[in-house]
Amino acid sequence: MRYFGLIGYPLSHSFSKAYFNHKFEQEGIPALYENYPIPSIEEFPVLLRQHPSIEGINVTIPYKEAVVPYLHSISDVVRKTGACNCIRIRNGQLEGFNTDVLGFEKSLLKSLQPMHDRALVLGTGGASKAVQFVLDKLHIPYTVISRRKDPAAGIISYDELTAELQQSAHLWINTTPLGMHPDTDSCPPVDYEQLGPDHYLYDLVYNPSETLFLKKGKERGAITENGHDMLLIQAEEGWKIWNAD
Ligand SMILES: NC(=O)c1ccc[n+]([C@@H]2O[C@H](COP(=O)([O-])OP(=O)(O)OC[C@H]3O[C@@H](n4cnc5c(N)ncnc54)[C@H](OP(=O)(O)O)[C@@H]3O)[C@@H](O)[C@H]2O)c1
Repeated sequence: MRYFGLIGYPLSHSFSKAYFNHKFEQEGIPALYENYPIPSIEEFPVLLRQHPSIEGINVTIPYKEAVVPYLHSISDVVRKTGACNCIRIRNGQLEGFNTDVLGFEKSLLKSLQPMHDRALVLGTGGASKAVQFVLDKLHIPYTVISRRKDPAAGIISYDELTAELQQSAHLWINTTPLGMHPDTDSCPPVDYEQLGPDHYLYDLVYNPSETLFLKKGKERGAITENGHDMLLIQAEEGWKIWNAD
């Protein structure tokens, strides 16, 4: 039997356990995937000692950045983003990867058009870092919006968002948990009146499939995409990493 799992806190919203255990059953893979909700990242080494057979771990909110100091080696993408969502364990060595980057890039590109040439990135957490990495790679300039501005880092607050910027930045990406089940009545505090058919709204949230953020975009003719495909792509990418030679 092979063992895999997910760390984060809380884990009630987690997709990975159901996805992988279903995959293992369907494909006849003798493996188990378990949730490990740990209230503090300091409990991570304890967990590893208690479960020495684990080969692969996914990392979710709020530990994607906090887990990095616990790793023995990291991929180039983890080094650049500072965020890790996938760990491979071999001979007691923890290797960190970021599969959110590939998942986001592939799913974003499905509907991306030349007019989506400037972006607003809402939120500054681990997923935001993956999104920024991809936008840099695709040479799409962007502005990061946070609840707290950080002029030194070029991050502006929601209050500072102008109508002009919201009209001209045709790609809006929600990397905050706002709108995620059960908080489905909330959405990022931006000005949805500025949206039109040239806009593309991407929400990393996948539950519900249409968040209030996406609904408001659709009402004004924007293209919309939720985080579902990103989730599937990052999960399968993790599986490849855990099985690579
Ligand atoms: N589809 C996928 O495959 C996928 C992959 C990764 C993540 N996600 C989703 O993306 C979301 C973020 O994940 P994460 O790992 O980046 O989480 P995170 O590290 O906790 O960061 C979330 C960011 O959202 C902002 N935020 C949090 N609460 C907020 C609030 N009440 N109002 C406004 N902004 C708020 C914060 O930015 P500021 O403090 O700067 O405002 C925070 O840094 C989650 O919903 C997660 O499920 C989806």
